[in-house]
Amino acid sequence: MYAQGLIGADGETKESGEFLAAFQKRIDAEEKIEPNDPMPEGYRKTLVRQIGQHAHSEIVGMLPEGNWITRAPTLRRKAALLAKVQDEGGHGLYLYAAAETLGVTREQMTEELLSGKAKYSSIFNYPTPTWADIGTIGWLVDGAAIMNQIALCRCSYGPYARAMIRICKEESFHQRQGYEIVMTLAKGSPEQKELAQDSLNRWWWPSLMMFGPSDRDSVHSEQSMAWKIKRFSNDELRDKFINATVPQAEYLGLKVPDPDLKWNEEKGGYDHGEIDWDEFWRVVKGHGKMNRDRIAARKKAWDDGAWVREAALAHAEKRRNRQDAARHAAE
Ligand SMILES: [Fe+2]
Ligand SMILES: [Fe+2]
Repeated sequence: MYAQGLIGADGETKESGEFLAAFQKRIDAEEKIEPNDPMPEGYRKTLVRQIGQHAHSEIVGMLPEGNWITRAPTLRRKAALLAKVQDEGGHGLYLYAAAETLGVTREQMTEELLSGKAKYSSIFNYPTPTWADIGTIGWLVDGAAIMNQIALCRCSYGPYARAMIRICKEESFHQRQGYEIVMTLAKGSPEQKELAQDSLNRWWWPSLMMFGPSDRDSVHSEQSMAWKIKRFSNDELRDKFINATVPQAEYLGLKVPDPDLKWNEEKGGYDHGEIDWDEFWRVVKGHGKMNRDRIAARKKAWDDGAWVREAALAHAEKRRNRQDAARHAAE
């Protein structure tokens, strides 16, 4: 079974009890762990997988929205969407750089993505057939990402936590630009409102799935919580997201497509209907509508960029040789 969403941990450890206890003591004292600090192999591997998966999600996430840049309805919308998609590329870069501090290379991570070994968030395996989807993605998908990422700003691994602080600031712009698109449609003509409702119908459940399996089926969670990589469980974050988003849908006059959604006075939050976990696992395992297209697009980008990587390496080497020659001449 894989861990999905942006969450997961490896429990395997070979280190001495003493070493692990000393490490845990640092974690419990809320000390940040930095790249050259001693750390359990399981901690390192968990972060490599999680940060790599997160980076891949940012980059693959550019595809469904990039699809609409040339068709954005106004210049203002086009400029905002372009900026948003570029931000996501930047997020991917910070995160690849954070993962590289743990001893993996970006090439290795990319190979794992292209071979299917590394996962990315399944939400990007759903198509974006209408303009309303661009609004809904900002509102719901970036909104769900924020719930996850705010908690990650306090992650015990320093480089990851610091990358998250900047990313979260940009995500809140993404969420608002999406909400504004949906608001414009929801307050527009009956056809526009219908477009917004149809999009909410398609994205609501996949957005809830972004938080990963239910706590009762989440294999990696406990160790990640103990290491303070994760601060909240999948279900806790999902509930926070639902509680924040349902009033936004009501404000828009849109209907959340869950007949079992009900305010629960006692817990001060919403109860929701059962998530279709069969669909979740189907998409995770590669059978979503867009899995094949997304990987094909990434593979093409990687292949098309080969000459740029080669040219940059050749340039770096030439410069190094020139500097060496100049140094020798000066000696
Ligand atoms: Fe992002
Ligand atoms: Fe975003």
